[in-house]
Parts: sequence; C-alpha cells; structure tokens
Amino acid sequence: MESPKQIDLSHGVPVDRIPDGAFVEGKLGDDDVILVRSGSEFFAVGATCPHYGGPLAQGLLLGDELRCPLHHACFSLRTGEALRAPAFDAISCWRVERSGDKVFLRDKLPAPVRTQALHSAGSKNHPESVVIVGGGAAGLAAADMLRREGYDKPVTLISADESAPYDRPNLSKDYLAGTAQDEWIPLRSPDYYRDREITLVLNSRVSSLDVQQKRIRLENGKAHGFGALLLATGAEPVKLPVPGASDSQLYYLRTFADSRTLAQKAASAKQVVLVGASFIALEVAASLRERGVVVHIVAPDKLPLERVMGPEVGRFVRGLHEAHGVVFHLGETVTRVDGRTVTLSGGDTVDADFLVLGVGVRPSLALAEQAGLKVDRGIVVDAYLQTSVPGIFAAGDIARWPDPHSGGLVRIEHWVVAERQGQVAAHNILGLRERFEAVPFFWTQQYDVSIKYIGHAEKWDAVEISGSLDAKDGAVTYRLAGRTLAVATISRDLQSLQAEAAMESSIRVR
Ligand SMILES: Cc1cc2nc3c(=O)[nH]c(=O)nc-3n(C[C@H](O)[C@H](O)[C@H](O)COP(=O)(O)OP(=O)(O)OC[C@H]3O[C@@H](n4cnc5c(N)ncnc54)[C@H](O)[C@@H]3O)c2cc1C
Ligand code: FES
Repeated sequence: MESPKQIDLSHGVPVDRIPDGAFVEGKLGDDDVILVRSGSEFFAVGATCPHYGGPLAQGLLLGDELRCPLHHACFSLRTGEALRAPAFDAISCWRVERSGDKVFLRDKLPAPVRTQALHSAGSKNHPESVVIVGGGAAGLAAADMLRREGYDKPVTLISADESAPYDRPNLSKDYLAGTAQDEWIPLRSPDYYRDREITLVLNSRVSSLDVQQKRIRLENGKAHGFGALLLATGAEPVKLPVPGASDSQLYYLRTFADSRTLAQKAASAKQVVLVGASFIALEVAASLRERGVVVHIVAPDKLPLERVMGPEVGRFVRGLHEAHGVVFHLGETVTRVDGRTVTLSGGDTVDADFLVLGVGVRPSLALAEQAGLKVDRGIVVDAYLQTSVPGIFAAGDIARWPDPHSGGLVRIEHWVVAERQGQVAAHNILGLRERFEAVPFFWTQQYDVSIKYIGHAEKWDAVEISGSLDAKDGAVTYRLAGRTLAVATISRDLQSLQAEAAMESSIRVR
C-alpha cells in the first residue's frame, strides 16, 4: 500500500514539489523510489538499503552521494553503486528527464561497472594473482572490490574458518537471540564466489609467509604463490584462565560455530554468568534475556563501557540492562568455579549453567610476526594500508594505520572499518593509490536500543550531551582541546551521519 508520504511517480512530478536537497518518496510500479534534487540535477534511486533494509529517505544527501542512516553505507546517486561498505550491492537507479516544469522517471539504468582500475596508468602492472588470508569482513570486501574493479586474474580467499564469510555482528544479536535463521548469516551465496571466480579455501590456516619467495604455506602443507597479498586475519578472543572451571563450562564468541553452540546451550539454560562488560558481553546479555535466561554480569569496571564511552553512557547502559533484569556485579572478578557455583572476588556466589567470557580480543599477528613484517600492537601499515613489505597489505582488526582524524597510529575493531579497509586495500593492490581516510564508525544493538558511534576518542577533556539518554534520544559529543573526536548517538541517525560528514571535511581543510 502507498504510504501517505509516497507519491505516484509514473506521471512525472512538478519541479516545485522537489525542494533542493530534499527527498521525495514515491512509487513507480512496484518499486519504492526516492527522487532527489541536488542543485539543478535530479536523481531517482531505490528507497531501501540492500544491507539491512535501511530507509534511505532518512539518510544524508552529500552532493551526488546518499548515505544510509543505519550503518552509513554510501551510494552514488548517478549509478546506484554502493561506494562504501557495509552495503556491497547497488541500489536501483532510473534515468530522470526534465520536460517543462515536470521531471519524469524513464528507464532503469543497467548495473554500474567500474573502469577506474582497468584504465589507470598502472593497469599493466596489476599483480599476476591476489591471495587474501582471512575470510572475514576485510577479506570478503577486498575480494569483492577486486572483481568489481574488473581485475580478472586469480583471486584466492583462504580462511581458517569452516564457514564462508558471514555476518559476524549478527552472531551476538538476532542470531543468538533466536530471531535470525542460519540461512541469513552467510554474506554471500556459493554462486557469488563461483560467478566471480573467487576461489574460496575454507578450514585452512596459513602457517607461514615467505616474503622473498612470495609464497604462503598452509598448516596442511599446501603452498600458494602470490603476486600481491592481503593479510586480514582479524582477532581472537582473549582467553582467561578460571580456576576450577572445565572447558565445557567456559564459552567465547567469535565465530558462527561459537554462536551456534551458545544458542544451543542457551536453549536449555536457566542462568548464565557473563565475564566482562564489553560490547559483545552486553549484546550477549541482551540476546540471552530475550530467550528468558537469567543473566549475571561480572566485571572489574565501575560501569559498563565507561572506558570507551564515558560514565554517562555507562550509567545509561547499566540502567537499560537492569530494566531487563540483568544483575551486575561490578568491581568484581570470578575467582573460582566449583560445579555450578561461581565465586566472586567479593565472596558472593552465583549459580550458573555456564559462563561466557567477553573480555576483549587480541589481533591475530602470528603470521606477520613470523614473516618479519613491522608489528607494533598490530601490523603497521601506511596510509595506503601497505605493510613494511611492498605488495603485502593488511586490513581490519589487525591493521594499525595512520589515522588522519586523531593524528596517531590506531587499530580499531569495527566491522565497517574492516570492510572499508578491505575495499581500499583492493584499490591499492590495483595501484590506485587511495589513502584510507574513512572516519571510524560502529554500532551496537542491545534490546530496542542501537548506539551509533562515529570517530575515535581514546581520551577527551569535555563531553556535551544533547537530548536525553534516559529517554533513548540523545547524542554525546567527545572533545579534546575543543576538537570533536567522536559522537555517540541514540535514535539520532541523521545527526550521526552529519557528524561523520563534518569530521571528513575537517581533515580536508587541515
Ligand atoms: C560477536 C561479534 C559481534 C560484533 N558486533 C559488531 C558490531 O555490532 N559492530 C561493529 O562495528 N563491530 C562488531 N564486531 C567486530 C567486527 O566483527 C570485527 O571488527 C570485524 O569482523 C573485523 O574484521 P576482520 O576482517 O579484520 O576480521 P574477521 O572478521 O575476524 O575475519 C578474520 C578471518 O581470518 C581468519 N584467519 C585468522 N587467522 C588465519 C590464518 N592464519 N589463516 C587463514 N585464515 C585465518 C579467521 O578464521 C577469519 O575468517 C563484532 C564482533 C563479534 C565477534
Ligand atoms: S542498512 Fe544501510 S548500511 Fe546497514
């Protein structure tokens, strides 16, 4: 049914009904379309983001680009192409024609094709093959971009995981809550890899890298030569020894298999102890509460997320979970487990069917260290994501790069950052010399609250809150010496996009 805001676009739209910089939501046959005016130009594109169905009419228009309000994917209004992750697929795009005082939507444009890399001066020097180690966010985004750019030589994606690349953020959210099905978790179907001739090598850990010979070797003894290499090995959960606990009582969450196991365990559990108050632990808490499991969180912190987002957000998050029945034991650690009894450092005991440890991750650097790449709490890369060895790139949770926003070397564990780095690394493998300058972005979903965070603030000297966190409608701005480093928002998606755009322009003028 047509919503009151939607108009029928099949008979043209008077120009004066399309204000400059605004969206007109309409219908063309079965398609939901948004009509956009940017100066004297008119564009018509699909209204729904292919990533998670975000309503693009509530997004941000920036020249001839449109950004999605949910997770900041960016689309070209001229071609519909998904210019930046987390969306990979294009949105529909129509040819728009002005005739007199009306604009008309004509034919749908064909799917966009990139030609930049093929026509660039360095295209003759494209590597003979590309090997990507790591089948996660960065690895898949890089393989996808290599093919989108028309690179037609072998691309091999090698992953230690038994599953093809999947939607890792969902593992602690809908999938664990039991509201997402197994089939929704893979990011791409088997046809996708076959059609694009991306060779997927699963269940295979790369154990050594010879930078002189340009070869990698797998644990199973097989070897692969490469023209260019992308390391995208991500991170692994920090393992914590818990006296008295057996392996069958302690769980971690990183992989699809981990989440499947947890979901199965949760189905018959009554009470669970979560160790740590990290984003993942808090998302697990929310998902287990949705299943009716009683949740206790034990963490040494004074407030959850205080180190990353400050006490104001920490208090809000604690209140949110308490309102859903979660019991916090803050300022405490687990000292011992005896059968079902978990003893805390303050002497209290809590019963638990099992424990989930969410105490942070460690980047998977073994390969880089063994190969002698420059490593400093992450693989050190330059602005083009190239490691200390030419032709070898790194992206995602393992990469430590010069961040133009904070001015230092940073390593960040966010899904969208990893995907965008994979895309930029692919461009640079093809010689396009693109600097990685995206403003870091992440989101977390707990119950009905989604917190979006744009920028990166390791420390700040001023915090400004607008709106009300308790009313689940507010923004927190983190500043250092008067400069905005990061903005966290709840129910203010447009403000998050505007903050991203402002941070992007601030590095352009510096
Ligand atoms: C449960 C969960 C929920 C999350 N939710 C969010 C969220 O809501 N928002 C957000 O911004 N971020 C979230 N994150 C973080 C985000 O998923 C990571 O930042 C992102 O996946 C990093 O991408 P990556 O490509 O660097 O590594 P990964 O996605 O971890 O992929 C690394 C890959 O490398 C493989 N690998 C490792 N070593 C080797 C080797 N030697 N040989 C071959 N393969 C190897 C691994 O098997 C894996 O396939 C979440 C993480 C988890 C675990
Ligand atoms: S729904 Fe649009 S970026 Fe996720």
